[in-house]
Amino acid sequence: MRVVSGIQPTGTPHLGNYLGAIVNYVRLQDEAEVAGGDCLIFLADLHAISMPHDPARLHAATLEMVATLVACGVDPRKTVLFNQAQVHQHAELQWLLSGTARMGWLNRMTQWKDKAGKNREGQSVALFSYPVLQAADVLLYQATHVPVGEDQKQHLELARDIAQKFNNDFASEEAPVFTLPEPIIPPGAARIMSLRDGSAKMSKSADSDMSRINLSDDPDTIARKIKKAKTDAEPLPSEAKGLEARPEALNLVTIYAALAGSSVEAVLGEYGGQGFGSFKPALAELTVASLSPIVERFTALRDDRESLDAILARGAAQARELAIPTLAAAYRALGLVRA
Ligand code: TRP
Repeated sequence: MRVVSGIQPTGTPHLGNYLGAIVNYVRLQDEAEVAGGDCLIFLADLHAISMPHDPARLHAATLEMVATLVACGVDPRKTVLFNQAQVHQHAELQWLLSGTARMGWLNRMTQWKDKAGKNREGQSVALFSYPVLQAADVLLYQATHVPVGEDQKQHLELARDIAQKFNNDFASEEAPVFTLPEPIIPPGAARIMSLRDGSAKMSKSADSDMSRINLSDDPDTIARKIKKAKTDAEPLPSEAKGLEARPEALNLVTIYAALAGSSVEAVLGEYGGQGFGSFKPALAELTVASLSPIVERFTALRDDRESLDAILARGAAQARELAIPTLAAAYRALGLVRA
């Protein structure tokens, strides 16, 4: 079992990042340890340059996300934690895979279509070939399990297609160069929405800071944001079906369930029939209690440049070691060095 996943260094980490992706990393890190496998988690800083970006901010955001991951329980002693840019094998393998990936495959990627919109001609080449780098990220390590959100499933399928075609074209069946990775889409992954608009994902780029709970918020701020969160006037239903047309109410119940490690049904079992006047304070209390140790670790580590640099340097050294054999095999298979 080899778990490999990447996360964008978005900056301003929030509750949505935590409950969406990071909780799942922590679970898989522990599963890999029990199974005698390994877990690699990296900051996808190379991917970040596919869109206009500010270099100083990118670096700060990368460090901030490392602090977030560690604060949330990604343990650098159990997980190889690093940033792509320090492991040159990612970019190198991407080029080798570019000979195998097909224009038509990339043209079908919905993320490319969404991000490029009507202005394809004006996009960077990196935005177009983004999924090839993503394929390199996982194929480089012979990943077996790749935890991703639903929106990244198509990129993982592309990685499998690239691996399969490469193996077919350049390797024998007995000695394939690449392992086909399996996407792991957590069944109960909580999709956390904005506190102001139940139809938009909680996001660092939303205008209003009231729409998200940041991992740097103090308890009073967290409580105030929950108190002010948009809701409707109805009491909570006692079954999940009653939340169907009530996205804001569903979101608050989802947050409660995710933090309590329970389910929407169970939360409604307890709070069904009650209004937000009693549910919101309970949610605020739970959120503060769950986040305060994380917020505390995060704020301490965020400013500790030395520790963050050391974590990344060590992770990168480990990642490079793991990457060397597969990259060498790819060079040999392509006839770029003597087989
Ligand atoms: N594209 C992913 C995202 O936006 C991040 C990512 C980059 C990734 N490389 C990866 C995820 C490799 C899984 C495996 O969320």
